[in-house]
Amino acid sequence: MTQIIEVLRQEHRNIERLLRVLERELNVFDRSDRPDYEVVLAVIEYFMDYPDSCHHPKEDIIFAKLKVRDPVAAAAVGDIEAEHRDEAKRLRRVALAVENVLGDQDLLRQDVDNVIRDFIDHQREHIAMEERVFFPAVVKALQPADWAEVTLNLADRNDPLIPPGLEEKYDTLWRRILKLEGEAEAARSY
Ligand SMILES: [Fe+2]
Repeated sequence: MTQIIEVLRQEHRNIERLLRVLERELNVFDRSDRPDYEVVLAVIEYFMDYPDSCHHPKEDIIFAKLKVRDPVAAAAVGDIEAEHRDEAKRLRRVALAVENVLGDQDLLRQDVDNVIRDFIDHQREHIAMEERVFFPAVVKALQPADWAEVTLNLADRNDPLIPPGLEEKYDTLWRRILKLEGEAEAARSY
């Protein structure tokens, strides 16, 4: 039962779409034009909560199982929780940098660029590591009983891993960002 791995891979692809949006807006900023800050702020809003509320809980639950079934493989994956915390720290730096730009603070363009690029690069590295090391180790080590438990945890109606309605909320925001980005790109091509 590796359906949850497929779900996690799809979530990574959705995250990557937003990283590309952010990167595109950053390229606009780098050529000294004004990026679409509505898009940038919406991407920040997405990353502020979606990973910790909807994506990481699923990874945490399979990582806990991997630690039991194959501690050596789990050690090779590393400290995934610490990596997730570092992602949140990098995002806070992005949010602060954008807030300062919008507040007309005197900032070096290069410093803002570095902070945002650092966030994008680390997100990509982290996702690549999970797909290369973490997910294959989980697929190899987990037993049918583990998958059954994971599925039960995810679907527990009394104590759901992810609050009801939250994934739909972020799916809506994700779609809105892509729509806004499409409009921003169209306006820029005039
Ligand atoms: Fe992930």
